[in-house]
Amino acid sequence: MSAEPDLGRLLEYVRFRPMSLPDVPAVAAVERAAYPFPWSDGVFRDCVRVGYVCRVVEALGEVAGYGIMSFGAGEAHILNICVRADLRSQGVGRRLLTCLLEQASEAYMQDVFLEVRPSNTVAMALYESIGFLRVGLRKGYYQAVGGREDALVYKLPLGMINAAKPPRFS
Ligand SMILES: CC(C)(COP(=O)(O)OP(=O)(O)OC[C@H]1O[C@@H](n2cnc3c(N)ncnc32)[C@H](O)[C@@H]1OP(=O)(O)O)[C@@H](O)C(=O)NCCC(=O)NCCS
Repeated sequence: MSAEPDLGRLLEYVRFRPMSLPDVPAVAAVERAAYPFPWSDGVFRDCVRVGYVCRVVEALGEVAGYGIMSFGAGEAHILNICVRADLRSQGVGRRLLTCLLEQASEAYMQDVFLEVRPSNTVAMALYESIGFLRVGLRKGYYQAVGGREDALVYKLPLGMINAAKPPRFS
């Protein structure tokens, strides 16, 4: 009998690794399938080249998602987090976000920021369940069909946790 992977236990098959330039075409393909106004291949290449935290989620040898985060002045900014549509709602996004937060913590960032469309209730539920707080609104931040869409700004304070002991998010 062949040992087919049980995709009901997806988390056992995923691994998280640094993104490199050869990953970009596959990453950008996931991006184009996920967003109506996707980042270009060039934006991903720039993120890798400038040294942002760029992580790939790999499942069974394929790109299943990715996360991009920048650091600056004690703040981490999660710029993009995405899981391939056919692999969502199985815990991968939470694990990916946890990986990024662990890295921000290890780099002694004080706070983690991110933006999200108010229409993206799935992502908002994920962020709020981890403890992100809604701290602002950027008017007309996103391109949208027929105009612009606001962004909600979320913040997760890490500083006080860092001062006490290394946090565990998972
Ligand atoms: C947001 C995203 C990364 C979440 O990834 P995921 O692998 O589906 O997330 P998980 O399975 O780990 O679920 C995490 C939480 O998201 C929420 N969620 C996930 N799937 C959901 C669904 N179908 N309906 C409602 N909430 C859902 C839940 O709060 C869930 O927590 P729970 O499992 O404890 O209930 C994914 O939906 C995605 O890639 N979306 C497109 C890109 C995007 O919008 N990125 C965010 C930009 S700000």
